[in-house]
Amino acid sequence: MDTIVRGGTIVTASDQYVADIGIEDGVITRIGRALLGDLGTATPGGAATGRVTEPAGNGPRVIDATGTYVIPGAIDAHVHLDMPFGGTVTSDDYETGTVAAACGGVTTVVDYCLQSVGGTLAAALDTWHAKGEGKAVIDYGFHIAVTDLTPAVMAELPAVVAHGVSSIKCFMAYKGVFQIPDDTLFQLLEQARELGALVNVHAENGDVVDILTKRFVAEGLLSPWYHRASRPPEVEGEATNRAIALAELAHAPLNVVHVTCREALERIEAARDRGLAIYGETCPQYLLLNEEQYHETDWDGFGGAKYVMSPPLRAKSNNDILWRALALGNLQTLMTDHCSFRMRDQKARGRDDFSKIPNGAPGIETRVPIAYSEGVGQGHFSLQRMVALLSTNAARMYGLYPRKGTIGVGSDADLVLIDPDRRVTLSAATLNQDTDYCPFEGLECHGYPVLTLSRGDVIAVDGAFTGQRGRGQFLRRGAHMSL
Ligand code: URP
Ligand code: ZN
Ligand code: ZN
Repeated sequence: MDTIVRGGTIVTASDQYVADIGIEDGVITRIGRALLGDLGTATPGGAATGRVTEPAGNGPRVIDATGTYVIPGAIDAHVHLDMPFGGTVTSDDYETGTVAAACGGVTTVVDYCLQSVGGTLAAALDTWHAKGEGKAVIDYGFHIAVTDLTPAVMAELPAVVAHGVSSIKCFMAYKGVFQIPDDTLFQLLEQARELGALVNVHAENGDVVDILTKRFVAEGLLSPWYHRASRPPEVEGEATNRAIALAELAHAPLNVVHVTCREALERIEAARDRGLAIYGETCPQYLLLNEEQYHETDWDGFGGAKYVMSPPLRAKSNNDILWRALALGNLQTLMTDHCSFRMRDQKARGRDDFSKIPNGAPGIETRVPIAYSEGVGQGHFSLQRMVALLSTNAARMYGLYPRKGTIGVGSDADLVLIDPDRRVTLSAATLNQDTDYCPFEGLECHGYPVLTLSRGDVIAVDGAFTGQRGRGQFLRRGAHMSL
């Protein structure tokens, strides 16, 4: 063993116990009591240290985890890094985005690799490999977003999945940009089923959104509120229903990403009740924020633009509905849809017209503390459920399990120490995300990730990056596993 994480309370999706973790060459090789021989263990509650003691002679490096919860590194399977969108490019690239992720307890990201209209999937993968290579500081994979399905593109899919890109993204919105028609979605669902891949769907009726958007713009209704008004909840409910119907027809599993409201959730729950393999993801912004945020007047009256994302924030009543769905298992993953733009020069493109505001918000660094502090701390779900939502379920759904997503002998030593006593107030000024705002500015987290290990390397301590640039590896993912 070259490293021992000593005396922490290990939490997986099913267990909780105090033990040491032995690591050799980035992989967990032992889990047991007193791996160092005569050293005892402690339970959380005392002052956590996360202190790293470098080896004396040939001995292992020791990381003192007493007083902390040791969880599997979080997986963020919904991020957009270095992505051209809305006339600009996301402010976080593979370097800044994964550094921020590491500081927030994330050890794996799965990013959306976009096919250009008229382009091949191979070209899209080349472009995305060039973005990640030498820059990512944690391990990363890609979903392939098919935007223009031709017979030739269809023929590429087996090779794409064999390359380890075993999930396909379909946008039912963003008309004229990424939106695909129903026949494309149906064919991709059938093909995904054959290949053991999973389809992720952005479910909004893009045709209706397009009409409402043009109508508001023509009427001179241009403030960020009209982003929300152009995408009412039934736009999401209808598309969710349609996507589920197509998945049922294709006998394929389906994951609905960024679920925001009752109208969508009820369709997912009804499908699951009928035994269909329909999954759902939500994100912290839909749990903590609501549509009143579009009226914020900071940034010279333009503060609502901070929350211009799709689907939009909803009525507050949806927050509790989503928390409950996460707890009960009707939603299986809590991801971020991290898609960061600066207010000062990127969101500002739409100062006079909401339809020109780039859609998206940052969150890669704040999900784990929010899940712990708001989710576990406020009694919405257990620690085990938190681990399932942040890591284990995504590892299974996206073909990474058990290399990622759990703490077990043979798994990568991707570990996060959460100090339950650490208090941190979220603020753009101190976070590492490359943006000039934080949607959760001022939220006090009770409990915070204090140390992140990726394949045995200490890559973040107390919110600061300590690892090597470019150390992240591309992950060839396997087949989708059902939950
Ligand atoms: O507004 C959002 N969500 N931007 C990112 C692209 C997407 O729809 O996931
Ligand atoms: Zn989306
Ligand atoms: Zn997204």
